[in-house]
Amino acid sequence: MEISVTVNGQLYQRDVEPRLLLVHFLRDELRLTGTHWGCDTSNCGTCVAWLDDVPVKTCTVLAVMADGHRVRTVEGLADGVGLDPVQQGFAECHGLQCGFCTPGMMMTARWLLDHNPDPSEEDIREAISGQLCRCTGYENIVRSVRWAAAREAGRAAEPATEEVRA
Ligand code: FES
Ligand code: FES
Repeated sequence: MEISVTVNGQLYQRDVEPRLLLVHFLRDELRLTGTHWGCDTSNCGTCVAWLDDVPVKTCTVLAVMADGHRVRTVEGLADGVGLDPVQQGFAECHGLQCGFCTPGMMMTARWLLDHNPDPSEEDIREAISGQLCRCTGYENIVRSVRWAAAREAGRAAEPATEEVRA
């Protein structure tokens, strides 16, 4: 099937198999490998990107379902000038170790802050509750998102953590 999908502001037209998943369309057809593929069971959430303005697990969406729609991946997070505050937060607060879950986490965090600029720790944990980090736990991921929220609000960001807790 011929599909047209706008990804990170750029229009792509491709002939794809109807069974092709969006995660594979992004990674294999467009070479946007920032969207990771971690399971086949829609459990891990490492494949999260935005379809129009909503985070989705792209392993649960067919590429043909994105026809005529917009997709935003982690490659579209930075604005071409500087990193998004969410990206800065993950760097400042050690929100990643192996980094495998990080793109999906950041796409969810960006969506959360767009809809709730001052989320509580509980809000953040709920937002990322469908995503798994295999490395160490979620403490620094939460801190990273809170750091970004503070930065965007013009408040002094919380200091980066000096310890990693589960
Ligand atoms: S790859 Fe695991 S939920 Fe999509
Ligand atoms: S940083 Fe390794 S899976 Fe989350």
